[in-house]
Amino acid sequence: MKRIATIAISLLAFFAFGCAGGATEAAAVAPEATEVVAIIEAVPNDTATPRLTPTQAPITPVPTVTPAQTPSAANGTLALTLDQLKQYDGKNGNPAYIAVDGVLYDVGGVRQWKNGSHEGYSAGKDLTDAILGKSPHGTGVLDGVPIVGKLVAG
Ligand code: HEM
Repeated sequence: MKRIATIAISLLAFFAFGCAGGATEAAAVAPEATEVVAIIEAVPNDTATPRLTPTQAPITPVPTVTPAQTPSAANGTLALTLDQLKQYDGKNGNPAYIAVDGVLYDVGGVRQWKNGSHEGYSAGKDLTDAILGKSPHGTGVLDGVPIVGKLVAG
């Protein structure tokens, strides 16, 4: 009986001092309230983090050199009167245009129309009657010749 009492007292003493010791230890490592505040303040918050600037859309390079806009590159939108057509005679570096049935053709690239002339006919004119009435070939030769616009009343 005495032995049991001794064990019981020993156990009580163990738990009592053990817990107290643990509490002391915890108190030793736990930071003071002011320290906790300091730690929290030291952690950088979101606003302090430098924001990433949104990536810019790639800048499409603007061509600095535009291709020379020759009248023959007018994409069929040119509108010339008979009087205006005269200057497109293929001479002195001028474009060579002819009009047939109200359509303006660029014969500048046609081998037979070198320097704006062909079989005694000159560019810069309405040659509808000539191609239909005088040429042996007719209007079929105009297939594939670039169209630059139309002849308009002036
Ligand atoms: C638009 C007005 C045109 C007129 C008035 C015209 C007139 C003529 C004439 C009179 C001849 C015969 C020459 C001879 O053998 O005595 C001829 C021949 C010829 N022309 Fe034209 N021409 C015109 C447009 C063109 C065009 C636009 C082309 C080509 C795209 C062309 C291509 C030729 C060729 C290849 C020949 C020789 C072969 C052939 O007789 O078919 N001509 N042209």
